Amino acid sequence: MLTTDLVRFKKLGKQITVLTAWDAISSSIVEASGADVVLVGDSLGMVVLGHATTLPVTLDQMLHHTQAVCRGFSNPVANQPLVVCDLPFLSYQCGEDKAVEAAGTLLKNSCASAVKLEGAEPETLLVIKRLIRMGIPVMGHLGLTPQSVHQLGYKSQARDKDSQDKIFKDSEKLQESGCFAIVVEHIPEEIARKLKRNLIVPVIGIGAGNDCDGQVRVTADILGLSVEQPPFAKPLFSGRELCIEALKKWIKSTNPNQENPTTKTSESIPDC
Ligand code: KIV
Repeated sequence: MLTTDLVRFKKLGKQITVLTAWDAISSSIVEASGADVVLVGDSLGMVVLGHATTLPVTLDQMLHHTQAVCRGFSNPVANQPLVVCDLPFLSYQCGEDKAVEAAGTLLKNSCASAVKLEGAEPETLLVIKRLIRMGIPVMGHLGLTPQSVHQLGYKSQARDKDSQDKIFKDSEKLQESGCFAIVVEHIPEEIARKLKRNLIVPVIGIGAGNDCDGQVRVTADILGLSVEQPPFAKPLFSGRELCIEALKKWIKSTNPNQENPTTKTSESIPDC
């Protein structure tokens, strides 16, 4: 899968599917599901590293997880999903050279073919243009941008006229800068629909209604593995409960004669 295939899918009206992965097991499952794109999102900082936000995620961690994701694929390269890797906080906000080095490190040392970064501020646009000139495809991300959580929170974005005007302008700037697709997170459905109509590049939604060119989901949310789900990512499966049930069954099977094998009372511990 190539970045150019996604623009072709938009023209054909084929919905683009993007799922996150963070290690070899999750990427092998996502590949088998037939998703077009695997996003190694910095949401892994919350989903698998247990942080409260995505901000602490480092470039080394993104590389480590992206390499594991790449090792999880079993199809020949030509049939593998496109791998896009998030540039973590502070890897692209401190200037173009640092951003090229960060993105280049990810592409040089893993199977990722593109990076994603958040926002469309003037400095970010310069970074995007430079990366693209250097041969590194870029996916944009507007609306709720989790790396700006201390400014925006996790609430729905583009609700008033000014911020709607801004997201339209920002999306055009991202397209003009050369982004091959744009993620829009937690914005009203009608705004996402207008963005989809205005732009040539695909608009990939999450919490942005169904009328986008594609959808992206955090795989742990769809599978119901996360303890806390975002309100716009409904689980399709009770993964957490089913896993706990299966593990409890296994524990019980190892101690078939005990009522509750995990509770050790003082009576059950032999004196030494
Ligand atoms: O980090 C991530 O998983 C993302 C998606 C929510 C779009 O950016």
